[in-house]
Amino acid sequence: GAAELGPYRHYMQKEIFEQPRAIADTLEGVNGIVPELFGDEAYRTFKDIDSVLILACGTSYYSGCTAKYWLESIAGIPTQVEVASEYRYRTSVPNPRTLIVTITQSGETADTLAALRHAQSLGMTKTLTICNVATSAMVRECKLAYITRAGVEIGVASTKAFTTQLVGLFLLTLALAQSKGRLSEDEEAGHLKALRHLPAALQAVLALEPQVISWSEDFAKKENALFLGRGMHYPIALEGALKLKEISYIHAEAYPAGELKHGPLALVTSAMPVVTVAPHDALLEKLKSNMQEVRARGGVLYVVADADSRIDSSEGVHVIRMPEHYGVLSPLLHVVPLQLLAYHTACARGTDVDKPRNLAKSVTVE
Ligand code: G6P
Repeated sequence: GAAELGPYRHYMQKEIFEQPRAIADTLEGVNGIVPELFGDEAYRTFKDIDSVLILACGTSYYSGCTAKYWLESIAGIPTQVEVASEYRYRTSVPNPRTLIVTITQSGETADTLAALRHAQSLGMTKTLTICNVATSAMVRECKLAYITRAGVEIGVASTKAFTTQLVGLFLLTLALAQSKGRLSEDEEAGHLKALRHLPAALQAVLALEPQVISWSEDFAKKENALFLGRGMHYPIALEGALKLKEISYIHAEAYPAGELKHGPLALVTSAMPVVTVAPHDALLEKLKSNMQEVRARGGVLYVVADADSRIDSSEGVHVIRMPEHYGVLSPLLHVVPLQLLAYHTACARGTDVDKPRNLAKSVTVE
């Protein structure tokens, strides 16, 4: 009811603003990287595996796509990510040494549960879930689990579940890196310090809300939007586009920026806002040339830049600067302005933000 909403207009907004607390709770009790964070059997399981297969749907699928970059670059483990409803029905090549990782807020999504059971039926018995509901079917059916502590999520468009899943997946990456002898004590300490500082870093990003509101006034008048990202921020662009389409009903697509010239550039005109996720990483210079390609066609850029990236606002280029450059964990920060953009654009269009048409919070039937 209204009392629970406090100062917020919708559950989605409240849940976006709860993220610092949700992440702090999810990290509670983590005093170091040990396999047992995932269950008693984790040590033996992690020693045995040679690859990871992530299965999930919707926003949970995008957290898995982000984790693939971490698992391969930090833990050195070959990783595949697949939409659960596709995996369950195709003929694939099972590998008994693969760790099956399901990601699910509810723990009850029918396709994700069916994908898990399908993997098990193929002899893949090393199973782990990143899940927000400790009493769910998914937690019961997987051998290992990390329970995120987002708390109850009411808004159909997932926000705090996503960022806490990323925390769980980053811990999994570190635990697997350690079991493969790829995590020094210094690296472990550095990553833990960055994780613990996340709630404060996120709080600073939430303070950018007024700038995002001014962007949303432009977006509310559009019928299409393009989101670009590269590397581990490509899944963040996908998630930003999903949020916008789910609740504002604006058609949105995300592309890895290097693919612009292979299609979406044909759509770019002054009527096409182009949201660009632009962290200060190794791909920034390449991303800047992608941005010039958009500007040359009259496209208007909305750039989520880092504190230290030299991108300035100019004609047709709107920049929001992140307070702090956050390295490998920067997807957790860059997604927040995109959540707020979808939220405020939907508010400006007067849609039913917490219960978008045709969608359900938890899809427990096929
Ligand atoms: C539905 C919800 C999404 C969610 C997806 C997967 O589509 O509307 O917000 O990401 O299901 O749900 P799960 O509970 O498995 O994470």
